[in-house]
Amino acid sequence: MDLSEARLSQVLGVRPFQFFPQIGSTNDQALAWLSAGAPPGAVVLADEQTKGRGRLGRSWFAPPGTALMFSYLLCPSPQQLTYVGMVGALAVCEATERLGLSPGIKWPNDVWLDGRKLSGVLPEAAWHGENLVGVSLGIGVNIRIDFAATPFAETAVSLETVVGALDRADFLASILVRLDFWASRLSSDQLFEAWRSRLIVLGQQVSISGLSGIAESVDRHGALLVRDSSGTLQRVLAGDIALGQVREN
Ligand code: BTN
Repeated sequence: MDLSEARLSQVLGVRPFQFFPQIGSTNDQALAWLSAGAPPGAVVLADEQTKGRGRLGRSWFAPPGTALMFSYLLCPSPQQLTYVGMVGALAVCEATERLGLSPGIKWPNDVWLDGRKLSGVLPEAAWHGENLVGVSLGIGVNIRIDFAATPFAETAVSLETVVGALDRADFLASILVRLDFWASRLSSDQLFEAWRSRLIVLGQQVSISGLSGIAESVDRHGALLVRDSSGTLQRVLAGDIALGQVREN
């Protein structure tokens, strides 16, 4: 067991954190903690989630002991909300690069390795009326999930299959260093450029939400700009990209 309260205390030092062997969703707990006054930089971590959420209304599941699943708290301004997901993808990417690997970001904020999904992020905001209390940046990383007999056998990858045995607490600490770095640079050119330069879809033929074309660029808010067959530049804010001409279900 590479995750425990004691081990996390060792690697997280003075950072406020909550660890749960099992919880519904770390994002739910983090949002509740935010409303109760948790500081930015605090972390909620679980070894297993029974109601883990993914993007676009999907669920996110990993057997106990096989993934890194946590929520990192930030207090951005409403104008900075659009950058929070970038921070998550970038931090995971950089921590993975530190292992000697070459991951990339599949728009908007999935981290891909060797043509498969390694990690996903789900930022969720807590509001009191019109006031933004903060954001829970949920991050899931496949560490040692066996995808062989699952529908994700061809589309997902676990980090340990590429680098060998990995200590989850150490890898978490490595991601947190980068989360702290970028969280203090939200909406900076430096953040935008670091995220943009890792995007793996630019210049490629893509299909997204019934639209096909060339993913030409991204704008400053992270929207994808796709040149469709009529030559019109379409702005896409959210969705799942398929590379090539494949249409989504
Ligand atoms: C995605 O790729 O669809 C995003 C997945 C995000 C999963 C993480 S695991 C920790 C946090 N808590 C959740 O319920 N979801 C996020």
